[in-house]
Amino acid sequence: MKHSFAIGVILGGMIVAVPALAARVPGDPAAGKDKAALCAGCHGDTGNSQSADFPRLAGQYEEYIVKQVRDFQSGKRANNDTMAGMAATVAEVQDAKDIAAYFSQQKMVKEPLAAPNAKLVAAGEKVFTEGNPQSGLYACINCHGERGKGKAKNVGQFPVIGGQHRDYILKNLKDFREGRRSNDPGNMMSDIAKKLDPKELDAVAEYLSAQLP
Ligand code: HEC
Ligand code: HEC
Repeated sequence: MKHSFAIGVILGGMIVAVPALAARVPGDPAAGKDKAALCAGCHGDTGNSQSADFPRLAGQYEEYIVKQVRDFQSGKRANNDTMAGMAATVAEVQDAKDIAAYFSQQKMVKEPLAAPNAKLVAAGEKVFTEGNPQSGLYACINCHGERGKGKAKNVGQFPVIGGQHRDYILKNLKDFREGRRSNDPGNMMSDIAKKLDPKELDAVAEYLSAQLP
């Protein structure tokens, strides 16, 4: 279903052409399944990758996946050359939306890569839910929702991070901290990552990776 034509609306007796909210046309998950064949090679058929090098995409907000693909394409997200090459193969924005809709509809599966360390998980939960008033670290839960499961589809700028692979989370937090990743709006995540001390960083990544279904 494509609705990228203009819709005529009647406004005070005049017919006005309104661009048909092109940006809001959602992706088609059925079309996306086929278009995602290449992606599945690394991210898994259902977006449940089996390696911490490749983030899980299952259940991620459609809007967030599209943004990341486009940021890799434009070079705004420049923290992985392999993924930049893959993003370059996505020809049209609609393809990105369809692929994103497909992965977004998949369910995250309960397949941990390693058994979580309970002590670290408990320390990480505290960081996640309370932040650190001493250092001024704002609690992650405010933007990423309960257990990092995101807040709502209409604020899909704030990604699902609960259940993501630990080592991927560690890498990205360090990339934000050290400026290798800087595609976050208003430096939101870079500022946060700079406030995490090494112990908090390890703990919060362990906690998040344990938030599987
Ligand atoms: C050869 C392996 C490979 C393939 C194939 C691949 N990716 Fe990736 N992708 C990666 C890696 C590695 C990363 C992690 C980048 C980093 O280090 O932050 C990634 C990251 C991503 C992210 C960011 C996720 C997040 O949580 O921020 C998205 C979205 C993504 N890939 C989508 C896709 C799509 C869509 C395709 C198919 C067109 C695809 N990838 C194909 C390797 C791959
Ligand atoms: C003020 C809001 C805010 C807070 C608080 C926040 N984040 Fe984020 N976070 C974001 C936004 C926005 C993004 C998406 C950046 C982008 O568009 O690429 C993000 C992205 C991330 C990512 C990358 C996800 C991916 O796969 O691409 C990780 C990991 C992350 N945050 C972890 C954390 C942790 C851990 C905390 C707490 C210590 C935290 N965040 C607190 C707003 C926030």
